[in-house]
Amino acid sequence: MIKEEKKYNKNLVVVIATVAATGGLLFGFDTGVISGAIPFFQQDFQLSNSMVENITTAGLVGAVIGAMLTGKLSDIFGRKKTILVTAIIFVLGAIWSGWAPNANMLIFARLFIGLAIGISSFSVPLYIAEISPTKMRGRLVSLFQLLITIGILVSYLSDLAFANNNNLESWRPMFYMGVIPGLFLLIGMFFLPETPRWLMSKGREDESRKILQRIEEPGLVEDSIQRMKGEIEKYKERAGFKEIFRPWLRTALIIAVGIMFIQQFVGINTVIYYSPKIFMIVGFEGARADIWGAVSVGVINVLFTVLSLFMIDKLGRRKLYFIGLSGIVVSLFALGMVFAFHTALGDFGKWMAISFVWIYIAFFAISLGPLGWLIISEVFPLRVRGIGSSIGSLSNWLFNGVVAFTFFKIVKLFTASGSGIITQEKLYDETTHTFVTHAVDNGNPVGAFWFYAFIGILGLVWGYYFLPETKDVPLEKIEEHWRQGKKPRDLKERVD
Ligand code: BGC
Repeated sequence: MIKEEKKYNKNLVVVIATVAATGGLLFGFDTGVISGAIPFFQQDFQLSNSMVENITTAGLVGAVIGAMLTGKLSDIFGRKKTILVTAIIFVLGAIWSGWAPNANMLIFARLFIGLAIGISSFSVPLYIAEISPTKMRGRLVSLFQLLITIGILVSYLSDLAFANNNNLESWRPMFYMGVIPGLFLLIGMFFLPETPRWLMSKGREDESRKILQRIEEPGLVEDSIQRMKGEIEKYKERAGFKEIFRPWLRTALIIAVGIMFIQQFVGINTVIYYSPKIFMIVGFEGARADIWGAVSVGVINVLFTVLSLFMIDKLGRRKLYFIGLSGIVVSLFALGMVFAFHTALGDFGKWMAISFVWIYIAFFAISLGPLGWLIISEVFPLRVRGIGSSIGSLSNWLFNGVVAFTFFKIVKLFTASGSGIITQEKLYDETTHTFVTHAVDNGNPVGAFWFYAFIGILGLVWGYYFLPETKDVPLEKIEEHWRQGKKPRDLKERVD
């Protein structure tokens, strides 16, 4: 019979998820690329430090706007179209950034590319979650985080490759590099199908079934269709923006915003930021410290995210969360200790600091990194999944901004006089427009790291009550669980 022609195909799903996850590579690349480019465009355009700050903040602002405005659009126009538009913005944004003739233009280009970062950060995990077979969903959505970490690493390496001290315009090719993955995503997405779940929400049952037959385990296809149908028929009224704030969805909202709060407030980006400084303290001179700090952290981040792919659908979300977050709390506490007693610990303490940064990154990479994006793509019902996960992603970017903005203030607040960490760094001199080596007092991050550890402890308590075990649970059953007013803790695999 001709009906048999389209078989369930695991490899196909992996290919689909990998192509879509290139959105993560662009996210990682475009957030990481700026650090290596700054010294070059700052000198090239002779910019003040505050102007440089405006350029870096523009990307973050763009991400917030992108996540804020487009969730509903992905519910209306579909997941595939949303990602296609994102890919176009990534490509144009990379060209615009590399070509920018002056600093103002660079601000707009970064703002523009930030939009794509914000949109892709919820639409890609959402797309993958909706197209994955239940049993592989965790692993496939985590590919997004894996590609974020690869993107960050690639950005450091490509910055290194293009950095040429005799050419102040070295920053241009660094930005242009983003065109390559952007084009890959654009062309690849063009050939990928729309998700069966979104099609179903638009009443396109036949198309939805055809796709499900190719990607879902055969025994679960009709089950998924029936559940989606049931939901859609039961709740026919249009899902407006206010729907997401209905009482029965409050739990899903708390979960999405909460996991992103913890992901950002354990200080991931400040630890990543601080790592080159720690290498400087150990005795690597400026440029080498930057390279070794950034690259070693980048490599560990990638390797342990790979490890998480193998565990997330086996151990489950909750176990990984508790293991990872406990490790994060302990390493933050230990890192704080090392900084508190750094003079007494001498050289040994310096190497301990590096080791704890690596351990911290490893624990983050197996847990909060992938879990944040996975959970926000799973917990919302189909009708509001776009807008719901965009709220999760918006929270991520807002919290990211708050942590970045408050880090130095917390460091200052907790630095006892004379306990600051001194490094020799090349700083931009706004009068001579050159980089001059200065001794810099960085303050002492002990207070900040202990504060993040404390948030991590709160996160353990929060997770006990709010983190659902979504492993092996079809998306439609998660939705039913909230409708029945049940607790997140009571959600588990149910093979009924
Ligand atoms: C976080 C980013 C972080 C990255 C590091 C992501 O999941 O959202 O803020 O820089 O992981 O791997």
